[in-house]
Amino acid sequence: MAIKKSTLLITGGAGYIGSHAALEADRHGFKPVLFDNLSMGHSWAAKSGELVKGELADRAKLLKVFGKFKPVAVMHFASHTYVGESVTDPQKYYRDNLTNAMNLFSVMLEKNVNYFILSSTCATYGNPVQVPMPETHPQNPVNPYGDSKLMLEKILTWYDKAYGLKSTFLRYFNAAGADESGSIGEVHDPETHLIPLVLDVAMGRRKNITVFGTDYPTPDGTCVRDYIHVTDLAGAHFLALQRMLETSNSDFFNLGTGKGYSVKEVITEAEKVTGKKISVEFGARRAGDPPELVAKADKAKTILKWVPQHSSLENILRTAWKWNQGYFGKKIGKNKK
Ligand SMILES: NC(=O)c1ccc[n+]([C@@H]2O[C@H](COP(=O)([O-])OP(=O)(O)OC[C@H]3O[C@@H](n4cnc5c(N)ncnc54)[C@H](O)[C@@H]3O)[C@@H](O)[C@H]2O)c1
Repeated sequence: MAIKKSTLLITGGAGYIGSHAALEADRHGFKPVLFDNLSMGHSWAAKSGELVKGELADRAKLLKVFGKFKPVAVMHFASHTYVGESVTDPQKYYRDNLTNAMNLFSVMLEKNVNYFILSSTCATYGNPVQVPMPETHPQNPVNPYGDSKLMLEKILTWYDKAYGLKSTFLRYFNAAGADESGSIGEVHDPETHLIPLVLDVAMGRRKNITVFGTDYPTPDGTCVRDYIHVTDLAGAHFLALQRMLETSNSDFFNLGTGKGYSVKEVITEAEKVTGKKISVEFGARRAGDPPELVAKADKAKTILKWVPQHSSLENILRTAWKWNQGYFGKKIGKNKK
């Protein structure tokens, strides 16, 4: 199927990963249309393609957008993303993450758009019974966030059988880093991810970083996670899309590096990259944090021929630091005036 120059609808395209996918869309010859309600995203992040401000719950708006832009496929990043919040407010996660996506699927079916990529997550696996975790790892999510994503995977599996809606589930581990250009990067509010928090300390925007738990069964006692550079992550979406368009098969892949780093290792590397001392406070374990989440990532490498090229910890931190200095540096400068 000729796909170059086709329009691609990117929901959540003004968010962290979606905006990086939009840059990759440009690089792969697609015309990205970014659909985002800007609840968490930023119009400045829409560096490529056309930004349409819209709400996924608004079916009429979606119908208009599909009618106008005629996308060949949809990449779906828009969702609520906070694990902790999903435990205290599950309704928000089931209502929005599920019903908004169902709305989107119904418009895709009506408009005969048959290719879909889902931002899924390692949170669909729940507590690891095996590390590294392969795609065949049991899926027993331990929070409504992961559960809502697993439910979408299940719904899409049935939609493929019934309606021929093809989808690829990409189960991300920890997205991190920023585009090499320094023009876009990670800004969540509130921020819960380790690397931006550590860099906040390096920038002087935060006094210290709290390390939750130092008695895990890991080499240095702190939690181990698999960090994947957002540019590598975004690139995998296009390999997956290309394969789906060529084979018309649904599939699912882990996206991680297969190598984990502990919280202490990340902090030490951040001190090297930034040249700043990162002040650390040690706290108790946080409920629901598995000791180690590391992907077995061979399937994407073998089938999609995906080769992460940006995901050394040093490069992740270097690009994130460049982004942070540009974005927050300017803000801090303005506030000082
Ligand atoms: N960041 C990670 O490490 C990670 C890991 C696993 C999975 N994911 C998944 O990747 C996706 C993107 O994550 P992110 O970190 O870029 O999050 P983000 O919050 O930066 O981006 C989500 C975007 O979706 C938009 N949005 C939310 N609800 C919407 C709605 N109802 N209508 C229209 N737009 C809406 C927000 O404004 C935001 O721009 C999410 O689905 C998340 O669950 C992220």
